[in-house]
Amino acid sequence: MTRRIKAIWAQDQKGLIGQDGHLPWRIPEELAHFKATTMGQAMLMGRVTFEGMGKRVLPGRKSLILTRDPNYQVDHPDVLVLQSVEEVLNWYQHQELELYVIGGREIFCAFKENLDELICSEIQGVFEGDVYFPAEFPWKSFELVEQIEQETATFPFTIYKYRRIT
Ligand SMILES: NC(=O)c1ccc[n+]([C@@H]2O[C@H](COP(=O)([O-])OP(=O)(O)OC[C@H]3O[C@@H](n4cnc5c(N)ncnc54)[C@H](OP(=O)(O)O)[C@@H]3O)[C@@H](O)[C@H]2O)c1
Repeated sequence: MTRRIKAIWAQDQKGLIGQDGHLPWRIPEELAHFKATTMGQAMLMGRVTFEGMGKRVLPGRKSLILTRDPNYQVDHPDVLVLQSVEEVLNWYQHQELELYVIGGREIFCAFKENLDELICSEIQGVFEGDVYFPAEFPWKSFELVEQIEQETATFPFTIYKYRRIT
């Protein structure tokens, strides 16, 4: 089966994704969905997102960090630092893992023409923060294929899955 490059993220009802380098909410059930989806595969994130996590490497997955800094180094066997979209696509084509583009905003922008599937958790609420999913994202190129409602102990959320059509 052909592999696909997928984006996965969580946003509030207005498209907010970040607050001061972190997630604007803490919803264990949503983190569990992210973990279950990405486990055993590869994740691509921007340097800002990686540093917002305190440079913590999420276990059980390959982490690709995108930066334009040629001297940026992360000394960890599960981390690969890359410097361009082309480098990421080249890496992807020469290995077998699925690739999940996990953000933040700049990385979703940089890969918007390369994504085959989108997995978006929409949190039922409006939060405070400073980074939004890109407004210029080409939504017309995707169709909704699945919608899953998730109850939680705090804020319920809906998982929307989209597939590229053009
Ligand atoms: N809600 C969610 O699901 C979710 C997911 C992920 C992140 N977030 C949030 O999003 C926020 C961060 O987003 P952000 O847009 O500010 O930063 P980001 O996308 O995480 O990282 C931006 C950095 O990536 C590098 N970069 C971007 N485009 C590049 C390219 N074409 N080639 C090479 N390097 C490139 C640059 O690093 P250098 O400056 O080092 O060159 C740039 O400063 C945080 O608040 C985070 O918590 C939310």
